[in-house]
Amino acid sequence: MNNSPIGIFDSGIGGLTVAAAIHKLLPNESIIYVGDTAHLPYGDKSPELIEQYSKGITDYLLERGCKIIVIACNTASAHAYKPIKQYVNGKVPVANVIDPAAKAISKAFNNKKVGVIGTRGTINSGIYPRKIKKLNADIEVTSLATPLLAPMIEEGFFNNKISKTVINSYLDKKSLKGIDAIILACTHYPLIRKEIDEFYKGSIVVFDSAEMVAQDVKEKLDTANLLNTQIESKLEFYVTDYTDTFEKSAHYFFPTKIHLDRLALWENK
Ligand code: DGL
Repeated sequence: MNNSPIGIFDSGIGGLTVAAAIHKLLPNESIIYVGDTAHLPYGDKSPELIEQYSKGITDYLLERGCKIIVIACNTASAHAYKPIKQYVNGKVPVANVIDPAAKAISKAFNNKKVGVIGTRGTINSGIYPRKIKKLNADIEVTSLATPLLAPMIEEGFFNNKISKTVINSYLDKKSLKGIDAIILACTHYPLIRKEIDEFYKGSIVVFDSAEMVAQDVKEKLDTANLLNTQIESKLEFYVTDYTDTFEKSAHYFFPTKIHLDRLALWENK
């Protein structure tokens, strides 16, 4: 048992969808969330920069005594999970958003075709096909970078005409034809799940890993005997660059009203 907080980070506020799933499953746990809005989007950054940013945030979360680091961003999970694991050197467990999804897909879609949509960084890394095929070579995986979606959602553009046009034109692409399931490989995309569901009209499975990630975090904490015992939890949400837009958009991503505080993480670095 351990009452220290769970440390969660993303490039921005998309990872709040993962924080929400963790909070729902583990309501007694305290959370420190860092959205690196000063460097948003990660999707178009080099792997070296993403690793550097991820290490900087991890340093902060460890200084704050976090008992686990959750990389709530697919792009950072693709490029920085291994380096962060090495960096923390077994001090605390590290969770990412890709492994739980790959594991579930590999079990549920034997001999099927699965589509993946995500940022350029995630898709170009090839990590989803690699991880899924390693677990089940009989699954066909096809990927499409959808770089407009995260900024569009972050600006509050969903469930309207513009978002529908953008989403439908991506989902209509040849590479996604004939799929049996689609993985929402970006932590922003649960916000447009309804529109994606409407496009496919129930003909395929739309797969969002937030709940599986929460389950994985629970298992990791349980294994290390780090689950909380206290009743009261404290939730802290930080962004590395504060604007009203982030504050306004945050409530789409987290079910209760939350307040974002600015964290001066990159000053003097
Ligand atoms: N939330 C990030 C992810 O899951 C995408 C946003 C970005 O490009 O920074 O990949």
